[in-house]
Amino acid sequence: MGVIDLCNSTTFRLSSLPNCSFGRNQKFVAMTSTIPAEQVNKLTGDTFIREHLRKLSPYQPILPFEVLSSRLGRKPEDIIKLDANENPYGPPPEVMEAIGSIRFPYVYPDPESRRLRAALAQDSGLEAEYILAGCGADELIDLIMRCVLDPGDKIMDCPPTFTMYEFDAAVNGAIVIKVPRREDFSLDVKQITEVVEQEKPKCIFLTSPNNPDGSIIDDEVLLKILELPILVVLDEAYIEFSSIGTKMSWVKKFENLIVLRTFSKRAGLAGLRVGYGAFPLSIIEYLWRAKQPYNVSVAAEISACAALENPIYLENVKNALVKERERLYDLLKGVPFLRPFPSHSNFILCGVTSGMNAKKLKEDLAQMGVMIRHYDKKELNGYVRVSVGKPEHTDILMKCLRKLS
Ligand SMILES: Cc1ncc(COP(=O)(O)O)c(C=O)c1O
Repeated sequence: MGVIDLCNSTTFRLSSLPNCSFGRNQKFVAMTSTIPAEQVNKLTGDTFIREHLRKLSPYQPILPFEVLSSRLGRKPEDIIKLDANENPYGPPPEVMEAIGSIRFPYVYPDPESRRLRAALAQDSGLEAEYILAGCGADELIDLIMRCVLDPGDKIMDCPPTFTMYEFDAAVNGAIVIKVPRREDFSLDVKQITEVVEQEKPKCIFLTSPNNPDGSIIDDEVLLKILELPILVVLDEAYIEFSSIGTKMSWVKKFENLIVLRTFSKRAGLAGLRVGYGAFPLSIIEYLWRAKQPYNVSVAAEISACAALENPIYLENVKNALVKERERLYDLLKGVPFLRPFPSHSNFILCGVTSGMNAKKLKEDLAQMGVMIRHYDKKELNGYVRVSVGKPEHTDILMKCLRKLS
């Protein structure tokens, strides 16, 4: 850690380095190396990679539209994409107009995203000083971990849940303690409390509504967890689709609470990458120091501001998706090999039953141009998750499921 500045050092002189041709004003910066001298002649690229990253399994992202399109031999517009909880209505029309009229794309964006944070303050009722924007909520999850965790520190999550917490923890050299949810996907507060006492994790990631099942966390449960000596990161990526309100304003009261939100789902801006978080003032200060200066692009900030200028569009799209979620849930209940769970979000988790295989179901639907997500991990084996689309997407999905019955 730190910098050794040889030009100002009293213990090193540049003349002591062989072939040193540095000019007067040039600085030579040396970082301490951990590569043993005897290995220097046998270097390969991965010698330089941090030890814990050499064992990291890559994150499994969904395939981009173009790749999917060529693999399935279908045009992108002929693929029904219900695998990544995207918002099929896209953003309000003002967003495309705003992107088309960007005046200074050659100038770096505002490192403080001032316009966007002012708009978010109006939208949320929480003052801009508590708000920091990022390149998606994903960036903020990683930024929080980089600010909070030392290698070897512990975090807690409650699977099944969003797998980026585990992934980012691994990248940051942290250990993940998993306290599984109960069978109905509710949190096991008693076990969480015991594990906090015994293992002393630094932070817990909670998701409400939870991805992949769509359950929400009661205020009572959240309050109990906030009493524990742990930083609570509450991920509200899907909060708009539920009937509960955001807890952003709680960060003024609880010094150990961070709330994350995103434009990806609510405003149909997943491709433009804009997320934001509400933080206690005692924490946000360090995130400002550690973040990349230009983390929110000009296009991302302009798009998010334009989206917030049309709250009626956002409300109508949300209402359409919530209505479609209820219709889809009822229809899925009638499929003999699926057991859907009620959801407060824009997706529905289904157990795959009656001898049908979840992976095969996903593959068969993909061949028909309908993409869904399947799960085959320890915490969730034999399940699929279907994002809520437009009514015509539901109709095509149901037609395909009938063919497989
Ligand atoms: C629970 C949860 N949090 C965060 C994200 C990432 O949001 P963003 O697109 O803003 O990075 C997702 C994306 O699917 C998610 O499911």
